[in-house]
Amino acid sequence: MEFQRQLEEARELTENRLRTFFSGGGLEEAMRYSLLAGGKRIRPILTMKFCEAAGGTLEEALDFGCGVEMLHTYSLIHDDLPCMDNDDLRRGMPTNHKKFGECVAILAGDALQAAAFQTVLSAKGKWRHGGKAAVVMAAKILAEAAGETGMCGGQYWDTAGDGQPRTAEDLTDINNKKTGALLRAACMMGICASMGRREVDESCMDAAWHYATNLGLAFQIRDDVLDAISTAEELGKPVGSDAANQKATYVNLLGVEACEALVLDYTVRAKEALDAGRWLGDTAFLRELADSLAVRKN
Ligand code: IPE
Ligand code: IPE
Ligand code: MG
Ligand code: MG
Ligand code: MG
Repeated sequence: MEFQRQLEEARELTENRLRTFFSGGGLEEAMRYSLLAGGKRIRPILTMKFCEAAGGTLEEALDFGCGVEMLHTYSLIHDDLPCMDNDDLRRGMPTNHKKFGECVAILAGDALQAAAFQTVLSAKGKWRHGGKAAVVMAAKILAEAAGETGMCGGQYWDTAGDGQPRTAEDLTDINNKKTGALLRAACMMGICASMGRREVDESCMDAAWHYATNLGLAFQIRDDVLDAISTAEELGKPVGSDAANQKATYVNLLGVEACEALVLDYTVRAKEALDAGRWLGDTAFLRELADSLAVRKN
């Protein structure tokens, strides 16, 4: 199947490039442990495939994609800490703090965040005249997605609310920040990677934003559904973590069935958002990716 082939191609490129970072011992070992533990690599795949849809190649966006994946991995290491979700299993292995202790896990996360920006700002390749501005734009997009306006802000409200009831609007706002922000950055940074090399229509950036926003909402609700109905073997992380933390999610607000319908609804909207872009390349893969994530098993 063509979709599967392209997915594997982008995933393999990511894995091979990620393996070239952090080869030493000490803190590097802890960084490498979580970064190379597997994971679906959805964010770098989105970065590369949006670059391709905007007329570029996968390789042109590879460094940006690896930067996003480093930042994402840091967010997972910290999310699993006892002071946050207190989880012992991640990507099928003991969580970073279980393996190395809390102090090293915090530092490994911090260092991965710094490495993410270093990787984006050192992105290799041929830029057109003035094209390096796209690198700065990509770093700025990542910073906004990582900080208080994005992932960290969302995690703040997510954990501050443990045990508190939430409205649907609150949950959408939290999900949009804690999960949507980084997926949005991944997609938009893919457009940046192409923009630095060729003329890309402005409509593509907008379309990427809307696609990722809807994909992010679908993605987190699916994650919450899997936390309720899957198994640790299939997920590679604990199930029932949200219930144990008395976390308000769409699942306990609406139930699994309504959540599955909501995921499909956001997925349709994500795909429709792509229609608004004037693309130089093909968007078929991005549509199939949204469909496959709506029914993912891990
Ligand atoms: C998990 O992200 C955290 C959420 C935002 C729900 P992923 O489901 O992308 O985790 P990996 O990278 O595949 O491990
Ligand atoms: C966390 O959401 C999203 C992040 C920003 C890391 P969850 O806490 O539900 O993610 P998992 O289920 O632990 O992967
Ligand atoms: Mg969490
Ligand atoms: Mg968690
Ligand atoms: Mg979860």
